[in-house]
Amino acid sequence: MASLTGKRRIWLIGATSGIGFALAQRLLKEGHRVALSARGQEALEEIVKEYDNALAVPLDLSDRRSVQAAGQKIDEEFAGLDLVIHNAGTCEYLDVRHFDVDLIERVLATNFNGAIYTLDAALPLLRRARDSDGSQPLFAAVSSASAYVPLPRAEAYGASKAALSHFLESLRLDLAAENIDVSIIHPGFVKTPLTERNDFPMPMQVSSDFAAKAIIKGLEKRTLDIHFPKRFTSGVKLMGILPPPLRRRIGLTMTRKNND
Ligand SMILES: NC(=O)c1ccc[n+]([C@@H]2O[C@H](COP(=O)([O-])OP(=O)(O)OC[C@H]3O[C@@H](n4cnc5c(N)ncnc54)[C@H](OP(=O)(O)O)[C@@H]3O)[C@@H](O)[C@H]2O)c1
Repeated sequence: MASLTGKRRIWLIGATSGIGFALAQRLLKEGHRVALSARGQEALEEIVKEYDNALAVPLDLSDRRSVQAAGQKIDEEFAGLDLVIHNAGTCEYLDVRHFDVDLIERVLATNFNGAIYTLDAALPLLRRARDSDGSQPLFAAVSSASAYVPLPRAEAYGASKAALSHFLESLRLDLAAENIDVSIIHPGFVKTPLTERNDFPMPMQVSSDFAAKAIIKGLEKRTLDIHFPKRFTSGVKLMGILPPPLRRRIGLTMTRKNND
């Protein structure tokens, strides 16, 4: 495994539920030293109780100082990071009949600004690992297949993930000179507490464990765009490059009728 050979120092943000919980279990069982973050301290402690190689580092992505403090704590314990997986995120759909600026700000703050706070805290630790141990560090973040194409009601969520993917793709170019890699993860539908709330069909939905396996496989290969399940995400990518009138026609078939 290119990035995950040996025992790596990993920071996983959003480790207590869904995809992140499945990732935490796999990485900890493989013996890596993993700093686990989320808001819920109790849920973090529950995981740490079971593994000597786990460190609980609570934080709230809406609070920049708490993310910086988490980075400092990890630096004291791990003296650098080989891999960061920024997985945490939230999803709220917009009902345009009741335009809700607070909702849009909440989603952008967690999914976009939160990832920037993580980067700010993590970059010095990735550089430290590279300089002290010759590690080739990797920063990975979970975006979404919804970043590939605008879909109804996903104005806030889709924009937050498209902004994240765009930012990281630019960053990847600038960090190349520093020998730091960036992977962007674009899942289709995954069965988690986040999607349990959805009241619409979720084609080709996969389990959290399927997602964790696909993500780790992609990270091992240092894949730039990790997306799964391929049959679904390839279709969404294709829709994203269709001419706008055709894309609009397909998108309109997914909108809600007035009383839905
Ligand atoms: N499930 C899907 O179908 C799907 C598809 C595409 C992309 N994704 C993306 O995959 C990622 C994980 O999703 P999931 O479905 O596994 O969600 P989930 O089950 O709701 O888990 C979200 C995780 O993020 C943490 N988190 C949320 N807000 C946070 C905040 N403000 N500060 C710190 N931690 C926070 C949560 O812990 P606390 O609540 O304790 O903070 C939890 O550990 C998200 O970025 C999501 O957008 C999911």
